[in-house]
This record gives sequence, C-alpha cells and structure tokens, in this order.
Amino acid sequence: MDYRHIAVKPVAGALGAEIEGVDLSQPIGDDVFGEIRRAFLERLVIFFRDQDLTPDQHKAFGRRFGTLNVHPYVKAMDGHEEIIEIVKEKDDKVNFGGGWHTDVSFLEAPALGSVLFARDVPETGGDTMFANQYLAYETLSDGMKELLEGMVAVHSAGSQYGRQGESQRNRDKRTGMQLAVTEAAEETTEHPVIRTHPETGRKALYVNGAFTERFKGMTKAESAPLLRFLFEHAVRPEFTCRFRWAENSIAFWDNRCAQHYALNDYHGQRRHMQRVTIDGDRPF
Ligand code: SIN
Repeated sequence: MDYRHIAVKPVAGALGAEIEGVDLSQPIGDDVFGEIRRAFLERLVIFFRDQDLTPDQHKAFGRRFGTLNVHPYVKAMDGHEEIIEIVKEKDDKVNFGGGWHTDVSFLEAPALGSVLFARDVPETGGDTMFANQYLAYETLSDGMKELLEGMVAVHSAGSQYGRQGESQRNRDKRTGMQLAVTEAAEETTEHPVIRTHPETGRKALYVNGAFTERFKGMTKAESAPLLRFLFEHAVRPEFTCRFRWAENSIAFWDNRCAQHYALNDYHGQRRHMQRVTIDGDRPF
C-alpha cells in the first residue's frame, strides 16, 4: 500500500527505511501517525533526519506508541526519568550497546520499541546496525523450527548490570552511565525462543547475546552450543542494515522483531544520544 502523507525510503533489503515529510516536534495528526506506525511495522526500524526535539517532545512521540519505561539500571537524564543518556566520552573505551541485543529482554514485559535521538555524533564512526529477526526465524530449517517451537529461554541482566558484569566494568573504566551494581540484575525471566509479534502476527527469533543466558530446563553449558549458533545466525549480513548518524537524527526500532548493535569505532571522539524506551507486552 502506498503512503500518502510521508515518504518511506528503504535503506536495505532486509529492514530499515528513512522517513521524510514529518516534523516530530509538532503534533502529529492521526493520518500521518497511522502511516508512521505502518512503516515501523513493515520496515522494523525507521529513521528521521533533522529533528530538533526537546526532551518533552521526544517523550511525547514515544508515548504515541505506549507508556515509557524507566530503565532499572541506567541513569536517567536530570528531570526526565524516562530518558537515558547514552554517552561515550573521548577517553572512554567501552560503549553502551556494543553487542547484538534487544533492549531490556530481561524484563517480564520487554520493550516494544526504542526511540534514539542523536545529540552529538562523531565525525566518522558510531553507526548503529540492525538485524531482522523475522528473517532469522524464517530462514531456519524446518527441523530447527520444530525443535525451537515451544522452547523457553531464560533472560537476565546479570552479565551487563549485575555482579557478573562488575569486574568487566571496572577493568574497562566503563562510562558513568550505569547505576550501582544490584542484586536485582541477577534475577531471571523466561520468554519463548520463538515469539509471535502481537501486531503483525509474524514469528521472530527472540534470543540475544547480551541477556539470554540459557534454555529453560538446561544448564548454561548445555545451552551454549545451540545459543551460539542462534546468536550468529540471527545477525547474518543479509538480515541487517546500518545507519549513519548525524546530529538530530532519530532511529526508532521494534525490539520485538529486531536486534541492534552500536559500533565502537570512534575512539577519541564524543558521542551523545538520548533514548526513550516504550513498554511492550509479555511475549507469547
Ligand atoms: C542502544 O543499545 O540502545 C544504543 C544504540 C546506539 O547507541 O547506537
């Protein structure tokens, strides 16, 4: 179906599109909003350029899609608990999101989507990659699909925000974005390995290297070989797209069917992003 109010320009075969013809700082009418939602569901990640948003306008756009998450382990922007500041300073070594993942899959009701807004970007580097998890599922063999159907995975924030992550953070002098290490981060939650998208009805692979620890009923060691295969398969180059940021660009991705990866290839330069994360439903 054609778009009448916005231009939707795909950036890769697998997913991603640049959206033109909308100013997100202004109230968005239902017709335009309906087309943005359709592009989001069809392309999994959509990009906007030259959007000069205040924190309140950023939150207002996110709220059109649902309630906003307050991240349990990352510091929020002063006065805006729903916005996290993703900052890598010139002399920081480690970046936030520098591994393939879906946001907050350790929560019982993980994110619907995330709206990332670029405030300050390096001259070169600091792109973000995205991978289509419908394709990851659809390209599995029938035998593998049968095996995974009905399997449940255990997710936890432990390796990133808990005791397991602490030594790594100290060693790398991670940026000051994170809150103190907490016991709560070690808690686990369970999600289906194959999830059905609540809006499109399509099946997607739903495991990720940052937060999926093991399969339910198996040890980590027993789970590791199959998880390793799935993590690698999920991000095959032909399932991906890559976004080159500029100041005031926005990426809005669907965490229910896409993974993303923030490249850490801009040492000596500063990068500053702001993210709101939209609450989702419990996967099924
Ligand atoms: C994230 O994982 O939300 C960060 C992505 C990025 O900074 O590009």
